[in-house]
Amino acid sequence: MNRTVELNIDGKPVELPTVVGSEGEVGIDIATLRNKTGCITLDPGYGNTGACKSAITFIDGEQGILRYRGYDIAELAEKSTFIETAYLLIYGELPTRPELAAFSDLLTENQMLHEDMRHLFDGFPPTAHPMAILSAMINAASSYHPNIISKREERFPWHAARLISQVRTIAAYSYRKAHGLPTIYPKTTLKYTANFLHMMFSHPGEDCDLKPEVVKALDLIFLLHADHEQNCSTSTVRMVASSRANLFASASAGVCALWGPLHGGANQAVLEMLEEIHADGDDGTKFLNQVKNKTTNRRLMGFGHRVYKNFDPRAVIIKQQCDKVLSQLHKSDPLLDIAKKLEEIALHDDYFIARKLYPNVDFYSGIIMRAIGIPMDMFTVMFAIGRMPGWIANYKEVMEDTDSRICRPRQIYTGSTLRSYTPMESR
Ligand code: ACO
Repeated sequence: MNRTVELNIDGKPVELPTVVGSEGEVGIDIATLRNKTGCITLDPGYGNTGACKSAITFIDGEQGILRYRGYDIAELAEKSTFIETAYLLIYGELPTRPELAAFSDLLTENQMLHEDMRHLFDGFPPTAHPMAILSAMINAASSYHPNIISKREERFPWHAARLISQVRTIAAYSYRKAHGLPTIYPKTTLKYTANFLHMMFSHPGEDCDLKPEVVKALDLIFLLHADHEQNCSTSTVRMVASSRANLFASASAGVCALWGPLHGGANQAVLEMLEEIHADGDDGTKFLNQVKNKTTNRRLMGFGHRVYKNFDPRAVIIKQQCDKVLSQLHKSDPLLDIAKKLEEIALHDDYFIARKLYPNVDFYSGIIMRAIGIPMDMFTVMFAIGRMPGWIANYKEVMEDTDSRICRPRQIYTGSTLRSYTPMESR
């Protein structure tokens, strides 16, 4: 039976329907609220607002559950690959062998940037952040393929493959450019993640050594980042898509939203924090005291999450992978020791316990990336490469939803009421 809820506004009852999700969560459908009452809801930060119905990713933040299309993240991390998971997210089902082969071929076919795009990289100063380059280049890429802007839905698989494949090429080119290194073209014989590492670290005439454990570790990082329901960047992608902007423009906006340190930029911020603590000779105690007394406005980066009020399941997997990779590469990292110490103190500290603050996906991912040679300013770019399938799946969902309307929130106005223009001499 469909439940309804009753609001009472100025003594007048208003009945509103509810929507129940497949995992049992209940939303109050307020679509008719303003028409019926003249009121709107106010929810800064959207902590209580469901902006859409979606069949892509399920999170239960209280229980620490994350599932892509019904599959538990731990099982996918163990058994799947980033590209298979990308297919799952975008098309809804795990691919058959021929479907996966066709998807892989499409990625390979679309991996080269238009040659003229290489000149665009020259326009950026060496100090440009790779996220700025990534966002600009994704948007620019649509100009080289005008049919992306047309409304031909049957071309969607090509556009999606082009975006997934080229984001990796753009990322590698931006790294090479920033370091004054010659561009390395992708190879048709290499799989997605190995090809990315090749473009990053090979030299003309000298291919880099693609260690399987390094390829596997980065592939896992991409997979764990592949989607996370209505976070800031995905909501941005959906918002832009709602205006019927093209896929590349929507994804480019997603990159900008991801860049901030409270979102994807946290992986870089975590490493900067750990380096600072290390340089300070602190074991983490002094830093945590500063965080808790709030006088410095600092946060323990890589901790806390809007949705998870328990362990972020991705953080558990990444932490294990971090230990594994460092041991496989015979490396030790003092920053890992500091991170573990910070985690241990925080998990037993009343400040963090009371606020349900646990390590999130970014807490350990940077240490793995550092161990495999990814420079710190590329960390958030790795996140963007990983998140691309999730953004594309959400874009597709918006485009296929025949009821979808342009996203246009309202506001409670708090500025001046009507007043007359004051001439300059009277101000
Ligand atoms: N360190 C210290 N205190 C924190 C932290 C933290 N990392 N996160 C939250 N808090 C405190 C806040 O100061 C606040 O305390 P108060 O009740 O005394 O005012 C309380 O916990 C609630 O914090 P909010 O900011 O209201 O929580 P919100 O859900 O809005 O923010 C966020 C979530 C942005 C992730 C936050 O926890 C944070 O800034 N974490 C650090 C940055 C980070 O790691 N971001 C990556 C998130 S995962 C991702 O995007 C991939």
